[in-house]
Amino acid sequence: MAELNFLNKTYTVDDYDTVLNTLLKNGHAVPNACRGGHCHSCLMRATSGQPMPFSQLGLDPSLVEEGYFLACQCMIYADINVCVPDKDKRTRFTAMVAEKTQLSDQVVRLRLQPARDFAYKAGQYLTLSNTDGISEDYPVASIHLEDALMEFHISKDGNKKLDHYIFEQLDENDALEVQTAFTEYHYQQQYSTEDLLLIACDADLAGAYGLLREALHLQHQGNIHLLHIQRTPSSRYLMAEISELNKEQGKVHFTELAISAGTQDDDINSMLQEILNGLENLNNSRCFLWFDHNNEDQSEPNNKMASNISERLKDMLDDENQLITMKA
Ligand code: FES
Repeated sequence: MAELNFLNKTYTVDDYDTVLNTLLKNGHAVPNACRGGHCHSCLMRATSGQPMPFSQLGLDPSLVEEGYFLACQCMIYADINVCVPDKDKRTRFTAMVAEKTQLSDQVVRLRLQPARDFAYKAGQYLTLSNTDGISEDYPVASIHLEDALMEFHISKDGNKKLDHYIFEQLDENDALEVQTAFTEYHYQQQYSTEDLLLIACDADLAGAYGLLREALHLQHQGNIHLLHIQRTPSSRYLMAEISELNKEQGKVHFTELAISAGTQDDDINSMLQEILNGLENLNNSRCFLWFDHNNEDQSEPNNKMASNISERLKDMLDDENQLITMKA
């Protein structure tokens, strides 16, 4: 039987199944929609082995030359290695702003209706672009198939170029583009009995809120601790919604860490450590981290804090693979 290699894992293919089915069956979140070769949301690239010519019909010749193909159309007859598409090649769909709602002085909620529905995972980062081509990644708060619209939270205090455009200029019925994205990072049924620790900063709380809702929707059994780090008082939002989830389920524990302007790094670190020390069963927990990661500058406060938390958690967890840093 032929084998499919993806992200350094090899899968035996059942009965000439497609690349898409084989990856989905093995727990990979591959974007897809029509499964009929029309929407191109499942675009992938072969790094060795030949994709079926049928799976390249309708693609730009330059993409075919680079080994791109449609995963839903590519039956596997011989061994093949595949990878995610380059970010600039991923399919974009126009999305209409169906709702724009103020959640706090500094945070708005966007609910988008994409021109074509495609599969995504709550909590993963997706790329939004405006008509001037400015693109940024935001974690998605909605659950695919459960929520009718895709939901994102945007902070006015954010340092992303698109934040201010969305906050100040974008209106309901305007258009954005949403781009498909692959993720290895999402809630999985195998975590259902584990305790979860979700840590998010400012409006990236959207991702933690999405994953929290998805876990509860899938009948998560373990406790879920959500830590929201607020770098400004106005990034405090979603309190009522989270407390409602806790009332319904009784297994959601919520901690806020509000950091006032001018707080020294050492003081922030002590506060974080104190919170982490107070968590029961942390060493066995599955931890997810959402921080604005667009800026690679390690002196940038968010990046410094994210790497500091990562290091602390890795020291405290039984296995550092229990820590999942969410990224696009
Ligand atoms: S899912 Fe639409 S082309 Fe593959």
